[in-house]
Amino acid sequence: MKQLRIAPPEELNLGDSTIFEGDALNVLQRMPSRSVQCVITSPPYWGLRDYGINQQIGLEPTLPQFINRLVALFSEAKRVLNDDGILWLNIGDGYTSGNRGYRAPDKKNPARAMSVRPNTPEGLKPKDLIGIPWRLAFALQNDGWFLRSDIVWHKPNAQPESVTDRPTRAHEYLFMFSKSEKYFYNQPAIKEKGTNGDLRNRRSVWSINTMPFPGAHFATFPPSLIEPCVLASSRTGDYVLDPFFGSGTVGIVCIKHNRRYIGIELHPEYVAMASTRLNTSEKQIIKIA
Ligand SMILES: C[S@@+](CC[C@H](N)C(=O)[O-])C[C@H]1O[C@@H](n2cnc3c(N)ncnc32)[C@H](O)[C@@H]1O
Repeated sequence: MKQLRIAPPEELNLGDSTIFEGDALNVLQRMPSRSVQCVITSPPYWGLRDYGINQQIGLEPTLPQFINRLVALFSEAKRVLNDDGILWLNIGDGYTSGNRGYRAPDKKNPARAMSVRPNTPEGLKPKDLIGIPWRLAFALQNDGWFLRSDIVWHKPNAQPESVTDRPTRAHEYLFMFSKSEKYFYNQPAIKEKGTNGDLRNRRSVWSINTMPFPGAHFATFPPSLIEPCVLASSRTGDYVLDPFFGSGTVGIVCIKHNRRYIGIELHPEYVAMASTRLNTSEKQIIKIA
């Protein structure tokens, strides 16, 4: 029988700091093993936004599909990470829709107006907090990641909510995972001032204001949330990877601290936005078919 043979795709050359335009899993699969020192990222939240592009993450019809897709993606990121590397993962939570099936348009944020909203996940009830961050954290732990810390990102300037039957949410989680039991962690680099003025080990609650980036229809990282992650988990010259690059905030912090960034972003509009923000040269943007 005649067989058609297809050569595997060429391994990507990371070069200097680079933005790859394409699907995160596709690009990760082509990156060399053990090539980046840390991963810092915030995937799209489940059922919150329609970025209007094929292959986008976040519109999976069921919660297990969403979680499984991210687990597969981060498993590939684990291969790409150095053995002593760290993954910092920020992901937001949400409430069940009560099977309302749509979200009313939000004038301030057009991308939030969803034509379809996922049904209430099995086992949950209308009005339940879904617990997405912890569900994902446990799934990643099961997949071999070491869950080392849950950092509470406290947002002093959190958006008001029109609810009167529960507290307004003013925090998100930032999980710290390692690939191995022992890993590179520059503890002195991110010490904080204690109540008596002495420097002490960084605590697990970080109070940082949110900072929208003009033109971005999604939540962007405030640079001060990323700074401790970069400083604690990489050295000068190391590669820092963000597979959901958006407006490129991780790149901004990398430039400031002399690290090389690798960004992956599906949406050409956001690649252009990050490229302007980071002042990239032509050869730093690579489109992956
Ligand atoms: C929450 S935003 C990240 C924002 C980023 N942290 C910043 O500071 O600007 C998530 C990003 O993931 C992108 N995205 C969605 N699906 C993707 C996929 N399959 N591959 C790569 N990027 C994707 C979206 O276009 C969006 O820019």
